[in-house]
Amino acid sequence: MGIKSSTLGEFIIKNQNQFKYSEGELSRLLNSIKLAAKVVSHEVNKAGLVDILGSAGNINVQGETQQKLDIYANDVFMRTLRNRQIVCGVASEEEDDFIVIKKKHGGFDHKYVVLTDPLDGSSNIDVNVSVGTIFSVYRRVSPEGSLVTKEDFLQKGREQVAAGYVVYGTSTMLVYTTGYGVNGFTLNPALGVWYLSHPNMKFPKGGKIYSINEGNYVHFPQGVKDYLKYCQEEEEDRPYTSRYIGSLVSDFHRNMIKGGIYIYPTSTKAPKGKLRLLYECNPMAFIAEQAGGRASDGYKCIMDVEPNELHQRVPFFVGSVEMVEKAEEFMAKYPNDANY
Ligand code: AHG
Ligand code: MN
Ligand code: MN
Repeated sequence: MGIKSSTLGEFIIKNQNQFKYSEGELSRLLNSIKLAAKVVSHEVNKAGLVDILGSAGNINVQGETQQKLDIYANDVFMRTLRNRQIVCGVASEEEDDFIVIKKKHGGFDHKYVVLTDPLDGSSNIDVNVSVGTIFSVYRRVSPEGSLVTKEDFLQKGREQVAAGYVVYGTSTMLVYTTGYGVNGFTLNPALGVWYLSHPNMKFPKGGKIYSINEGNYVHFPQGVKDYLKYCQEEEEDRPYTSRYIGSLVSDFHRNMIKGGIYIYPTSTKAPKGKLRLLYECNPMAFIAEQAGGRASDGYKCIMDVEPNELHQRVPFFVGSVEMVEKAEEFMAKYPNDANY
C-alpha cells in the first residue's frame, strides 16, 4: 500500500458519476459512514483497555443481551447520520423502529435511507476477535419532502443503491459497492486515511471453506445436513475446511478472499433462521453478487425475498457461486423447507 494507492475520498469523487440519482448526496453519505467507521474502529481497538467491555444490562428488541460496544457503535452511526442531515431516515438492528430524520429549517430534502447492523459479531468483543459493521442504502419510495414511512425501509434487496461492511480485524477495512463492483479500503490508523487496498474484489468461483455453526447440527433441515455430509466426504478436493468465527462480516470477508460458503440455516430452535434480512443478509448479498458470488435462502436469491417487517429473519447461504449452487441442489430435494 504505497503512496500511489488512491484514498477512499479520492475514489468516491472519481466515481460519483456512477450514482444514478444524486451524486453529491450519496458521496456525502459514504463520507459520513467512513467517518463513523473510524470512530468505532478506534473504540473497538481500545476495548481491552477501557471499561467498555461486557453487557450494558439492556436487552435489545430481539431479546439478545446488548454489549456496550453495540450501543456505542449504534450511537455513533445514528448520530453521524442524523447530525449531518444527509439521509431522511435510518433503521438499525439495535432500535425497535426506524428513525425519521426531519430536515432542519431551510435544509434539503433527502433521497436516501440507511439500514445498519452497527456491530456484527458482538459476542466476539470480549475475546478480542474480529467484529464488523454492515450498512445498506436505498432510495426512498415515498415522495421527497414528506416524512419517511416503513415502505421506504421494506424494499427488496434488489433495490439497494449501495451496501458495505467494515471489518475491525487485524486491520480495519471498509468494503463497499454501489453496483459497480466491490472495492476494499484499509485504514491507516496513524493518519486516519483509508487506502484502496483491494480493488475489484471477486469471490473465487469455487472454494474449500464452509462456515456454519455445526453445534446446531441436530436442529438443521435435512438438506443442510446432506450438504454438510457432502462437504466432509473424501472425494476430489474434499473434505473441505471448516472455519467459523461467529461474525458474519468476518466469515464472509475471509470466504470472499479465499473462496467459501457461509450458512446460517433455519433450525428447529430458530425456525426462520437467525440473521436479519434487512440489516445483514441483503447488504451482504448485494456485495456477494457484485463480487461474482451468490446469496440465497437455500432456494431463491435472497434479494428477491419480499420484506414484511423491519427485523425479519431469514435463512442465509452466501459465498462462492459454485458452492452456494451446490448447497441449493441439496436443499431442492426438500421443497417443503422453502416455506420457513
Ligand atoms: P450480531 O452480533 O449482530 O447479533 O450478529 C451475530 C450473527 C452473525 O454475525 C454470526 O455469524 C452469527 O450471529 C453467530 O450466531 P451463532 O452464535 O448462533 O453461531
Ligand atoms: Mn449481526
Ligand atoms: Mn449487531
